[in-house]
Amino acid sequence: MRIGLAGVGRIGSFHAKTLRQHPEVKSMVLADADPARARHVADSLGVDAVARTEDLFSTARIDALVIATATDAHASLIVEGARAGLPVFCEKPVAIDAAQTRGVLRRIESARAPVHIGFQRRFDSGYMAARDAVRAGSLGWVHTLRACTLDAAPPPAEYVPTSGGIFRDCSVHDFDILRWVTGREVVEVYAVGQNRGADFFRAAGDADATGTLLTLDDGAIALVSATRYNAAGHDVRLEVLGSKDSLAVGLDDRLPLRSVEAGVTFPSGKPYTLFLDRFHDAYVRELAAFVDVAAGRRESPCSVEDALASLLIAEACEVSRRERRPVRVSEVTV
Ligand SMILES: NC(=O)c1ccc[n+]([C@@H]2O[C@H](COP(=O)([O-])OP(=O)(O)OC[C@H]3O[C@@H](n4cnc5c(N)ncnc54)[C@H](O)[C@@H]3O)[C@@H](O)[C@H]2O)c1
Repeated sequence: MRIGLAGVGRIGSFHAKTLRQHPEVKSMVLADADPARARHVADSLGVDAVARTEDLFSTARIDALVIATATDAHASLIVEGARAGLPVFCEKPVAIDAAQTRGVLRRIESARAPVHIGFQRRFDSGYMAARDAVRAGSLGWVHTLRACTLDAAPPPAEYVPTSGGIFRDCSVHDFDILRWVTGREVVEVYAVGQNRGADFFRAAGDADATGTLLTLDDGAIALVSATRYNAAGHDVRLEVLGSKDSLAVGLDDRLPLRSVEAGVTFPSGKPYTLFLDRFHDAYVRELAAFVDVAAGRRESPCSVEDALASLLIAEACEVSRRERRPVRVSEVTV
């Protein structure tokens, strides 16, 4: 299989390395808006072909497309790839808002090529085990879920105005995984935020720490917290509490949390610092799944419709924070 990869920045260069090591990927073509960066990554991985992004759809003669560009290029590349009949993997998000995401759905409606959106937690062994336990009924009925995405350090100032805000950028992963683990839909949210870090968050209309209370369609309650200032490390977890049993995802030796109880030494490992170390194995499994999708062995494990569903929850959170009230997700769905 010959794979074209657009965007070789932080996550794209990691994906390029993963694909390079996949036994079914026989050749690759790398493209980036910065051609020198594409050449540098290609040279470091022993990939011989680089191209302009637009050439991926013509002269590069690829079998599948991986998109890891900056967010503003995702929508048009998904549409162009799917319309060219290429199986497409695209990093989240599909687009910066729900209106543009719906536009992508309309424009690829008649394309038969599969599109896989990169919500990598669906390939993390902990989240997979949690989903299996919920589906098997071993927890009884789930009454409460607690999820968090706590970044160790804030992103650069210039990233924030184009990020879509902390709900769309960070908590969207928690919203996706809540839906995926429980198989339920979120019906209502109440979100609050604070600005006690750098001024550029407030200037962009964003918050630097948030708390969200969500109600699922079976009545279960979820709490999602996010921050850009968790110096202890990159802390991503989920607790699923049920009538018979409870479990935790991410409660391993690298958890960036310190116990103050006498004699307790857990956790004692090196704390996670970034999504790339926290989810290393999940990213590798995710792209192996995409190779299966591209080879026609499985359906997309995370569709554009899935991405739209979690984005709508994030948009409901934005309205809730701004207007200081609970918001039904159906309010932002129309
Ligand atoms: N799933 C995850 O956990 C996760 C983690 C990080 C980033 N992401 C997503 O991945 C995307 C990339 O993030 P990043 O942190 O690697 O950013 P980055 O800025 O490090 O890299 C983006 C790259 O895309 C290139 N680029 C921009 N427009 C292009 C175009 N039209 N054609 C070709 N190349 C283009 C840039 O030159 C740059 O090299 C973002 O959409 C982000 O939301 C997802």
